Amino acid sequence: MNISITKTTTPKAKPTMDNLPFGKYFSDHMFVMDYAEGKGWYDPRIVPYGPLELEPSAMVFHYAQEIFEGLKAYKSKDGHVRLFRPYKNFERMNVSAERLAIPALDVDFCVDALKQLVELDRDWIPEQEGASLYIRPFIIATDEYLGVRPSDTYKFLIICSPSGLYYPEGLDPVKIYVEDKYVRTVRGATGFTKTGGNYASSIKAQVIAHERGYSQVLWLDGVEQKYVEEVGSMNIFFKIDGEVVTPMLNGSILSGITRMSTIELLKKWGVPVSERRISIQEIFDAYQAGKLEECFGTGTAAIISPVGELRWEDHVMTINDNQIGEITQRVFDTITGIQTGTMPDEMNW
Ligand code: COI
Repeated sequence: MNISITKTTTPKAKPTMDNLPFGKYFSDHMFVMDYAEGKGWYDPRIVPYGPLELEPSAMVFHYAQEIFEGLKAYKSKDGHVRLFRPYKNFERMNVSAERLAIPALDVDFCVDALKQLVELDRDWIPEQEGASLYIRPFIIATDEYLGVRPSDTYKFLIICSPSGLYYPEGLDPVKIYVEDKYVRTVRGATGFTKTGGNYASSIKAQVIAHERGYSQVLWLDGVEQKYVEEVGSMNIFFKIDGEVVTPMLNGSILSGITRMSTIELLKKWGVPVSERRISIQEIFDAYQAGKLEECFGTGTAAIISPVGELRWEDHVMTINDNQIGEITQRVFDTITGIQTGTMPDEMNW
């Protein structure tokens, strides 16, 4: 399919690229493609970024049939645009699509469309340390209909936002509240997908955590509230007595691309790493025994975020004296080095 390109005639003023917030400004263009049952995906186009016109009855507004992705583009010192493992994002988008009964996309086509969009808006890629062009592909159900069934029509869009780090703390350790009242998901539900509903249902707990002075919540499993799952905008890793552990993908945890990259790096370095079930009691026991050495979150938006404090019920666990740990720093340096092109990409990402 040929992608038509309509360039803006009124380019926007760019924000100051120093101290960029996350996800607040958007570049000049966006990619759009439509789907209709019987016709498939059609009319791929890059057009000026702007509002969509949708019927109030569009199904996405009522039953949340929607999926999204998040990835980043960087510009290296020699001016090359670098994408971090973009095929993985569109492969995962198809996993989400399958669960939400949304038609699949052609992964190669999407990466090509993304490259054309990012090339057109390359002046929007920030070059400041810690900043990048955050890319948000998403699909929404557009049928004008109020019955509950899959839509027959969809829109797929890609928008781009020059962004700074997700957490204003940067590499300063964040405080995380272990959520013991609300749950994010259960197995068999949509926890492994990137769909808006997962995030909508997480907001209330996040608000309460903020009120208590915490950045985010750590979700426990939705049945027993015993086992550690994820942070919601990040996967979670612990270093216990020399071994790095992260919850295994069990059907309710998002299969993070930074998570996968971290595991691949640790294996390459010969650092013991395991994906398994971990209870919050085990984390607390390790803490009490002085064996909880590091804790960090991984995610596209946050990259690597050290965790300096975990609060579980009445227990406050201060990790590594609230300092970034050695492994956390090494993973951060290597992933960001590969992303920005300051380190050789020996992983071929
Ligand atoms: C990402 O890390 O890209 C995410 O999708 C998390 C998001 C909720 C900001």
